[in-house]
Amino acid sequence: MSFFGDIPKLKYEGPETDNEFAFRHYNPDEIVMGKRMEDQLRFAVAYWHSFAWEGGDPFGGRTFDRPWFGNAMDKAKAKADAAFALFERLGQPYFCFHDVDARPEGSSFEEDLKYLQEITDYFAGKMETSGTKLLWGTANMFNHRRWMSGASTNPDPEVYAYAAATVKSCMDATHKLGGENYVLWGGREGYETLLNTDLAAEMDHMGRFLNMVVEYKHKIGFKGTILVEPKPQEPSKHQYDFDVATCFSFLQKYGLENEVKLNIEQGHAILAGHSFEHEIALAQALGVFGSIDMNRNDYQSGWDTDQFPNNVPEVALAYYYIMKNGGFSTGGTNFDAKIRRQSLDAEDLVLAHAGAMDVCARGLKAAAAMIKDGGLEAEVIRRYADWQSDKIKALMDGATLESLSDWVLKEGVNPEPRSGRQERLENYINRFV
Ligand code: GLC
Ligand code: MN
Repeated sequence: MSFFGDIPKLKYEGPETDNEFAFRHYNPDEIVMGKRMEDQLRFAVAYWHSFAWEGGDPFGGRTFDRPWFGNAMDKAKAKADAAFALFERLGQPYFCFHDVDARPEGSSFEEDLKYLQEITDYFAGKMETSGTKLLWGTANMFNHRRWMSGASTNPDPEVYAYAAATVKSCMDATHKLGGENYVLWGGREGYETLLNTDLAAEMDHMGRFLNMVVEYKHKIGFKGTILVEPKPQEPSKHQYDFDVATCFSFLQKYGLENEVKLNIEQGHAILAGHSFEHEIALAQALGVFGSIDMNRNDYQSGWDTDQFPNNVPEVALAYYYIMKNGGFSTGGTNFDAKIRRQSLDAEDLVLAHAGAMDVCARGLKAAAAMIKDGGLEAEVIRRYADWQSDKIKALMDGATLESLSDWVLKEGVNPEPRSGRQERLENYINRFV
């Protein structure tokens, strides 16, 4: 009997159903903004939280008792069997994984490489029969003690080389599995204390590293998108990929703004002191929007708790900006989320994802309705409309401080402030969520 026992494949039954194991809002075939809902949302399960994480927190260790725990290839394969059994029950089209989530830990790089090849061959077979695809692959360069002072920003060049070898192996694996993106998240790329840190050197090393990633992508003909995932801190006190704005200037400094895009996580946005929709809209404005990790933090603890989304109005605004700008291309909605450590049962794992999929479906439908209605867009256009008049266009064309000063004096310009209408807009949003 598999880990998920007789839990059935979940189907859409509509909002009125009292079947716990059914979708109320996520209807993969329903057309939203011209595409099937499944193709708009592009959901992915995060292998690490759902299958590798053991339920530990800073005060206690493992709470889960999974038959696949253990450092051996047969366990790794049992883990993959369970993972694909979950994907199938949920009808999740994608998954994401780090090297260390998937393979056993060997005693040398060579052994790790061999294990990675073996387990990803095993994945390939399961992907073929199930039809599940890889949204992105990535390297875990934060867990093992060798990474404690960073990967590409490590002061030790041997660790830098080891990081290069690790990323190469993970890009090869992602390419082999037809992955649609490759992610770099720099949890240890930053510092614990400035007192022992050469900031400038570390950022140059990281910039060169990212250039090597892009060079290798082109060399092997990987067609997916390279994504960097911003986060301000945790585990490092300060991380170089702080937020979207910081990442963008980093990419520009190292000539990568047309090659690399961003994977934006809701919880990381909040940790950086932003809203999720701010980070999404800014990435779009800068031309670097790629993909999202749809997992929230606890607003009281303020820590990165990686919980499944459950706030429809927040999710709706995120999808509003994503869909208004054309939706995902290679990106998607990854649940980088874990169940709580007391949620021990197989059912908990299934229903956590199912609920999150329903929340996202509601958010998407609300976003589509707002876009169709056009009220918000019209208001933004109205607010900037004066810039479109022939008179203002002529004035601004080649304007200088002097020419504008002359104009203000000549015309006796004395602007009258106008309402920003914020509450009216908030009321408007509430009609849809
Ligand atoms: C880690 C981070 C997560 C990131 C993932 C991929 O698990 O906590 O936010 O998305 O690595 O690199
Ligand atoms: Mn993430």
